[in-house]
Amino acid sequence: MDYTNINNYFFENNWIFFRLEEKFVLVDNEENYISFVSESLFLKITEYISTNKLEDEKEITLSHLVKKSKNMTSRPTKFELRSDTYSEYNFLAEFYDKHWGDFYEGLYPLIKKHYDEFAFPDEKILDICCGTGQFIRKLWNEGYNVTGLDGSEEMINVAKVNNPNVEFLVKDIRDFNFPNEYKMITCLFDSINHITKNEELLIVFKNVYNSLTEGGKFIFDVNTYRNFNDYWNNEFEIIEDQYRISIKTKFPVKPDIASMNIKVLSLQNDTILKENTILERCYETSEIKQMLLKCGFKSVNSLEDNSGRYIFIADI
Ligand SMILES: C[S@@+](CC[C@H](N)C(=O)[O-])C[C@H]1O[C@@H](n2cnc3c(N)ncnc32)[C@H](O)[C@@H]1O
Repeated sequence: MDYTNINNYFFENNWIFFRLEEKFVLVDNEENYISFVSESLFLKITEYISTNKLEDEKEITLSHLVKKSKNMTSRPTKFELRSDTYSEYNFLAEFYDKHWGDFYEGLYPLIKKHYDEFAFPDEKILDICCGTGQFIRKLWNEGYNVTGLDGSEEMINVAKVNNPNVEFLVKDIRDFNFPNEYKMITCLFDSINHITKNEELLIVFKNVYNSLTEGGKFIFDVNTYRNFNDYWNNEFEIIEDQYRISIKTKFPVKPDIASMNIKVLSLQNDTILKENTILERCYETSEIKQMLLKCGFKSVNSLEDNSGRYIFIADI
């Protein structure tokens, strides 16, 4: 099935749930099971996606879906709703801004070179997965017309404090479309690795492609297998006045998937105040290139930066 032309919503446990024209479809990753479900159930689940809660159920079991579906070819065991990665950032926003928000600095000279080569201050730039907007602040201060987009409301709230005059959008990058609006789209600091499935990444690339103007560019970084292998089996702490932030990374937790568990603990009695886990997916550079070309980008260049990530520059 071609996943590039459908309105999608995605879930864990290898299940994808989406609307295809007038149909409401559930399919597993290997396309072994395909089911058509009712519109009311579809709406209920999409509501869960946008509000992150169900009114009366915490979990929908697959048998529930099967009961409501007409053409299930087989009966799998369980279907669990899981929040999206960006909601994991909600509780992190201020820590993130303080400790990681300036990551863009290492990439800035390269990105600026591309802006200067072909973008003009009145042309529009979109930074997707913009986080707390420090990169945007730099661009704005240099006179660029930039908009920020991120799925996490709290990250956007901090971004708005950092950039009182900039427009921000709370949106999932798997679900946006601004036809021919932006001359350049950027996506920095492993944000692409937060998209953990090929079919989802294809949709992200398609959304970017559709939102670029003729001659536009998409610039993003991707963290690599080498970095995950070398640095993502690690433990470290950040001590604040009142808190201790304990971070444990692990790779692989599933094939090609790394996890970062973040706990905020009270310094007084060591109780856990907040805890979350962020998942990141490793991609081969060749896979990424293929996907970009498949979505219509005409040329794709990549280079390794000094943090061991790959920087991609894709032209349409
Ligand atoms: C590691 S942070 C990078 C933030 C920023 N680009 C920077 O350089 O500091 C990843 C960001 O991606 C956002 N994110 C992850 N998955 C997303 C999705 N599917 N849609 C929108 N934003 C997403 C998170 O909310 C978070 O702000």
